[in-house]
Amino acid sequence: MSACWPGPALYVHRCGGALAPENTLAGLRIAGRLGCAAVEFDVMLSADGVPVVIHDETLERTAGRPGRVSCMSAAELLAVDVGRAFHPAFQGELLPSFEAVLATCAELGLVANVEIKPAGGFEVDTGRVVGELLARRAPDVEVLLSSFSADALEAAAQRVPDLPRALLVEAYSLAAQARALELGCHGLNLGRQGLRPEHVRQARAAGLHVLVYTVNDALDARQLKAWGVTGVFSDRPDLIR
Ligand code: G3P
Ligand code: MG
Repeated sequence: MSACWPGPALYVHRCGGALAPENTLAGLRIAGRLGCAAVEFDVMLSADGVPVVIHDETLERTAGRPGRVSCMSAAELLAVDVGRAFHPAFQGELLPSFEAVLATCAELGLVANVEIKPAGGFEVDTGRVVGELLARRAPDVEVLLSSFSADALEAAAQRVPDLPRALLVEAYSLAAQARALELGCHGLNLGRQGLRPEHVRQARAAGLHVLVYTVNDALDARQLKAWGVTGVFSDRPDLIR
């Protein structure tokens, strides 16, 4: 992967997709056992500036308890059970640090799409910390950076300019495509809803790779491939290979 990028065509969404509690080491292990080559996960900062892997700004949905990520220390967050709310069989699965997720990706040989997911107001800090951590870490994982936040992406890119990066947007527009190019991105990651073949064509003609989220139907994945997309994010890696 890189120079500059095409890696795998399937990224398991939030580590293990629908087959495990999201954004967990258990999810990574399931992705690995299924023979998947790449995963996507979301990185946010704790109150004390430690990058942890979680999608929402609060704990309600994934841990079934109150708590705001940006107001809790890493020590508090890394002790939160995010398995039980998904299924009692996963009780004891803890919210992981970014470091732990990268180490497990390295162990399993998984390519990592690191989505920088800053809590509101922490865009630059989150991008900076993610970039700094990746810059000082042994390069034992192939990484694609992405974010809905241009500020976060820019802050990360200053620390790791050689890593491929993609701007995330819900829907294609010429303005989003221009913004991705302006940011020096190598890709434009797009939501599936409303996506049309000409959007993919335009982005590819502009020199951008295109990953599409979230695609859980094998026929749809095949159609998107025919349109020219570089790859898809899926919650059902067992169905889409
Ligand atoms: O990066 C693709 C996808 O993860 C973006 O949406 O909300 O699941 O992080 P979300
Ligand atoms: Mg994500």
